[in-house]
Amino acid sequence: MEIIFATGNPNKIREVNQILGKTHITIKGLKDIGCTEDIPETQPTIQGNAIQKANYVTDNYQVNCFSEDTGLEVDALSGEPGVNTARYAGQGKDPEANMAKILQKLGANTHRTARFRTVIALNLEGQQHLFEGVCEGTIAYEKTGESGFGYDPIFLPQGYAGKSFAELSKVEKNKISHRGIAVRKLMEFLDRV
Ligand code: IMP
Repeated sequence: MEIIFATGNPNKIREVNQILGKTHITIKGLKDIGCTEDIPETQPTIQGNAIQKANYVTDNYQVNCFSEDTGLEVDALSGEPGVNTARYAGQGKDPEANMAKILQKLGANTHRTARFRTVIALNLEGQQHLFEGVCEGTIAYEKTGESGFGYDPIFLPQGYAGKSFAELSKVEKNKISHRGIAVRKLMEFLDRV
């Protein structure tokens, strides 16, 4: 089965392919269908954006596809950055500036619980299906680790002794991450159809 992953983010395509391992499903990117434009993400929720991206691709390219949208929710910041996770510190989507803004806003606050939430919207043969993955953790006081991307250096997943996502191996991160959980739900579903 061939399916388009509606993202232009090569980090995400790589992670999803790693999570997939060997299956009968081949994931292709937007470039493979000639889609190079920016897909609108203008909805007020993570789920809304996932649906908007999947529908854009299906409507314009008539393909089966899935999209995902991810947000980081920091409790002491009333759930921010949430739907604004990518552009928290501005339109440049600069991960360093985004992390700096969170660390600055939290300051010495000891209430640092947070979670990553991923929603996947799958458009398959005219039907839509949603899958969610959540990873609970806390925000570090400073960045640690070199691997991963985005907010990984300041996110300490629950149960990993204070290690950040950026200090875990890719295999370890995929086992527990929001995207790993959501993608495995997607794959279990696709295995049954
Ligand atoms: P989007 O889903 O592409 O809109 O990404 C939202 C934001 O979340 C971007 O700033 C990403 O860098 C960040 N992000 C998404 N997934 C992860 C992750 O697994 N670790 C760290 N940051 C992430």
